[in-house]
Amino acid sequence: MSDKSFRGFAPGRVNLIGEHTDYNGGMVLPAALSVGLEVALTPHDQPISHITSKDHSEPAERMIDEPANGHWSDTAWGALQEARRLGLIDGGADLAIASTIPAGSGLSSSAALMLAILKAARAAKGSGPDDVALALAAQRVENDYLGVPCGIMDQMAVALATPGTAMALNTSSLSYDLLELPRDHALVVIHSGIVRKLTEGCYKERKLECDEAKAHFGTNDLCLLDPAEIEVASLTGPAKLRALHCATEHRRVLAAAEALRTGDMAQLGALMNASHASMRDLFAMSLPPIDALVESAVELGAVGARLTGGGFGGCIAACVAQDARENWQSELIARHRQARYIDAVSGTSA
Ligand code: GLA
Repeated sequence: MSDKSFRGFAPGRVNLIGEHTDYNGGMVLPAALSVGLEVALTPHDQPISHITSKDHSEPAERMIDEPANGHWSDTAWGALQEARRLGLIDGGADLAIASTIPAGSGLSSSAALMLAILKAARAAKGSGPDDVALALAAQRVENDYLGVPCGIMDQMAVALATPGTAMALNTSSLSYDLLELPRDHALVVIHSGIVRKLTEGCYKERKLECDEAKAHFGTNDLCLLDPAEIEVASLTGPAKLRALHCATEHRRVLAAAEALRTGDMAQLGALMNASHASMRDLFAMSLPPIDALVESAVELGAVGARLTGGGFGGCIAACVAQDARENWQSELIARHRQARYIDAVSGTSA
């Protein structure tokens, strides 16, 4: 038995545009944050694994093959079990977790934890599946072990996105382009102060409404439908609105990727604003205090702003000219006392 430990790291992510498109056959545009999560993994051959986290005072003790039980350590434990299934560790492993990603903020703390563990386990083994396969493994843990029916965006972003770029990801084929972020603008992440949890049910409800629309149109790829076709369809109620969001949001991501390529920040901002309106009015995933925060962000000079992530709380992302950023931020926080700055991404200078 050895007590050597192996390190794994994954960043948080902010999605610039393309929400709830990743389980509907569409595009997303996430970027890696500078906040992130690190684990130290120590493989051993004991039946009990010890998991400690800087965010929790009580360490967890988990037995091999234990199911999820609602404990804070479920996410880490699910990833460790997946590492064992992949043959990356043989017995148990102890884990020490240190994160700077605020939990419940829609910045993929859960995907980052799983990818950090899977990467540490791969380092322990010395070889193993590539990053895309690890992203898919982490999604399996969410879907099958934790019962969260999420798509693949978060796992792919935290496994593969590189600082200074946004990842234009096709969630059907998993092909992607890394696009340079602007240097003269920052994508600023502001927490609304409202904490959300994917397991709380709203995400599942939206997924079921999308499933209803998929059954109506006989396709898995709602995003690829023509919005005009959805408008005239006999489908009614929430399912129709969700489908309209998906189809239009997918097109906005394609246009946003083009705006990044050509450096057209006014266009990127307009698309972010349109995306927020669609999330608010068609996908019903925003909340009045978040709408107010987005409105203020734009009023105070952002070229565009929107809710980011799964919705029902969490963060907004705003595109702001670098030279206006400091004033913009202090005025926004002064107006919304519960909001707080988390991080910002932009192109890395050469
Ligand atoms: C969460 C999920 C993702 C994605 C977003 C919404 O972050 O984990 O798969 O669906 O919500 O875009």
